[in-house]
Amino acid sequence: MKNKTTHSPESLVRRIILSLSLVFFISFSAPVVAEYGDVVINKRAEKEGMRPVIFPHWFHRIRFRCKVCHNELGFKMRAGGNDITMGEITEGKYCGMCHNGEISWTIENCDLCHSGLPGLKSAIHGSNETSGPGRW
Ligand code: HEC
Ligand code: HEC
Ligand code: HEC
Repeated sequence: MKNKTTHSPESLVRRIILSLSLVFFISFSAPVVAEYGDVVINKRAEKEGMRPVIFPHWFHRIRFRCKVCHNELGFKMRAGGNDITMGEITEGKYCGMCHNGEISWTIENCDLCHSGLPGLKSAIHGSNETSGPGRW
């Protein structure tokens, strides 16, 4: 017996093609280096001969509580709102609190942070909000 909600093979194929092209569209329309929600930090990096820093905010947000960074480590909640120097990071502040070879890999991995394309401005890409499970 056939009920109304059963999809015909054609409509199934159309759906698959539609979702595939959506995936294509999204991956090709996204910025090359910065993913949705990534923060570019480039107040001084490029002036000092390094590539802009790309900070994957979501990647960190799902691993740590907001207050770890925005309270205890003193990161202001504004893209471009912090004055961070490499010297401070090396001394164990900001990113250096964790990228120290214990909680995460060390700051010797320059390219993992200084990964932005030249010319990127300090900003958050997309939005800091989500409708997904990480909503706050
Ligand atoms: C864990 C992430 C991270 C790693 C690893 C890292 N940096 Fe940085 N670096 C930053 C951030 C964040 C800034 C601040 C960027 C800004 O405001 O423009 C910065 C800034 C800088 C600056 C700008 C001038 C200054 O003194 O602040 C230089 C130069 C620099 N880094 C060099 C390096 C070198 C060389 C390495 C590898 C030995 C390295 N960084 C590794 C995150 C990192
Ligand atoms: C691992 C550290 C870390 C964690 C955890 C973290 N953030 Fe952030 N957040 C940052 C950094 C670094 C920036 C960028 C600051 C800059 O550009 O100077 C930022 C930027 C922001 C901004 C500014 C975005 C804008 O549009 O300007 C907001 C809002 C924010 N965070 C909210 C949150 C919330 C809410 C959580 C928890 C769900 C969270 N953050 C967890 C480090 C973190
Ligand atoms: C509260 C701790 C903490 C702070 C602060 C922190 N990180 Fe991380 N970060 C981590 C951990 C943990 C990982 C995962 C490392 C792993 O998989 O070994 C990570 C991974 C990363 C990655 C790799 C993401 C990926 O896709 O694999 C980048 C890039 C990065 N951090 C940059 C930064 C920058 C830039 C800052 C400062 C603005 C920063 N982090 C501050 C803990 C932190």
